[in-house]
Amino acid sequence: MKKNVAVIYGGPSSERQISILSGRHVASVIDREKYDVYEILFNTDNWQMVEWDGDKMNVLGIVDKGDFSCNGIRFDVACIMIHGIPGENGLLQGYFEMMGIPVTTCSSFVCTIAFNKYSCKRLLLDTGVKMADDVFLRRGQSYAAGEIVRKLGLPLFVKPSDGGSSFGVTKVKDVSQIPEAIDYAFSESDTVLIEKAVKGRELTQAVYMDAGEAVALPITEIVTSNEYFDYDAKYNGNSEEICPAPISEEMAAEITRCTKSIYSHLGATGLIRIDYIAAEDGVYFLEINATPGMTRMSLVPKMVRVSGRNMTDFFTALIDNALRK
Ligand SMILES: Nc1ncnc2c1ncn2[C@@H]1O[C@H](COP(=O)(O)OP(=O)(O)O)[C@@H](O)[C@H]1O
Ligand SMILES: [Mg+2]
Repeated sequence: MKKNVAVIYGGPSSERQISILSGRHVASVIDREKYDVYEILFNTDNWQMVEWDGDKMNVLGIVDKGDFSCNGIRFDVACIMIHGIPGENGLLQGYFEMMGIPVTTCSSFVCTIAFNKYSCKRLLLDTGVKMADDVFLRRGQSYAAGEIVRKLGLPLFVKPSDGGSSFGVTKVKDVSQIPEAIDYAFSESDTVLIEKAVKGRELTQAVYMDAGEAVALPITEIVTSNEYFDYDAKYNGNSEEICPAPISEEMAAEITRCTKSIYSHLGATGLIRIDYIAAEDGVYFLEINATPGMTRMSLVPKMVRVSGRNMTDFFTALIDNALRK
C-alpha cells in the first residue's frame, strides 16, 4: 500500500507566498509511484486540501483538525513547508506529535529551541562552535546603551530573537542608534538579541538524516553588495548564491564538522539549514532555518542538485526517514 503524504504549506506569516511556492514545488517532485501526495493549504481559519490547475486552485475539502483527516483520507506523514510560525517554531510539529503523525522536519522541541536565536545559541554552547558575543533583552527590560557598546563594540547587530527574512534587523554603527534599533526589533518579537558584528563571508549548509545517518549537502556562499544580507538582498535579487562555495577544503571541512556537531547536539532528526559567517579567526554560527525555502530557486534544492542527487530521491529519503521515527 502506498503511504499518504500531506504536504502542508501557506501559514499566516509574511512568508506565506514563498511557502506556497515551496510546498507546490515539493509536491511536484515527490515520487508518485511510492506515495499518494496531497496538498494542504494552511489558512488561519481552516486547512484546505487543494489541487492546482496551472495557477487556478481548486479546494477539494477541509481538514478535520481533530484527527488531521480529510474526505476520509488519513495521512501517514506530513511534509511541513511553512516558513515562520507555526511551521518553523515547533507549534505544528507539536500538533502532529499529538496526532501520532511523523514529520519531515525536526521535533517540536528542536524547532522551538532553534527558532529562538538566543535559546539556540545557549543550547549549542557545549559544541565549542564559535558564536558572536551577545546581549539578550525581553520586552520591558531596562538597558544602558553605553554598557551594550562597551561589551560588544561597534558596529553591532540588533535583531528580533525569533524573527526571519531580516525583518526588524539593524546594523548599528553609533551608540545613538541603539534605542531606535531595539524598538524596531521589538516591533517583530518579544525578545531581542544584540550581537557583536562578525566580519566575514556568509556561508550556509543543509543537513538531513538519510537511513539513520546525518548527511551534509554542499556549502553555499551568499554574496551581496548590500551592507549585509538584508531583506532587499534576500528578495530583490541583490545577492548571488554560489554552490559549491569557493572556499578551501580546510574551511569546508571545518564547516561540515560544525554542522554535524550542531545537528547531533540538538538531537535533530529532519532537514535543517545552518547559516555561518567565516571570519578571520574561524567559523561563527549565525542561525538555523528549520523549514528552509524549497522553491525551485531556493538554496537547498540547488545544494541537492550540486550534490548529484535529484529532488525526488532527496524527498524519498526525508519521507522514509520520517516514517522510521
Ligand atoms: N552578528 C552578526 N554579524 C554580522 N552580520 C550579522 C550578524 N547578525 C546578523 N547579521 C546579518 O544580518 C542578516 C540577518 O540576520 P539573521 O540573524 O540571519 O536573521 P534572519 O532570521 O532575519 O535571517 C544575516 O544574514 C547577516 O547578513
Ligand atoms: Mg538569516
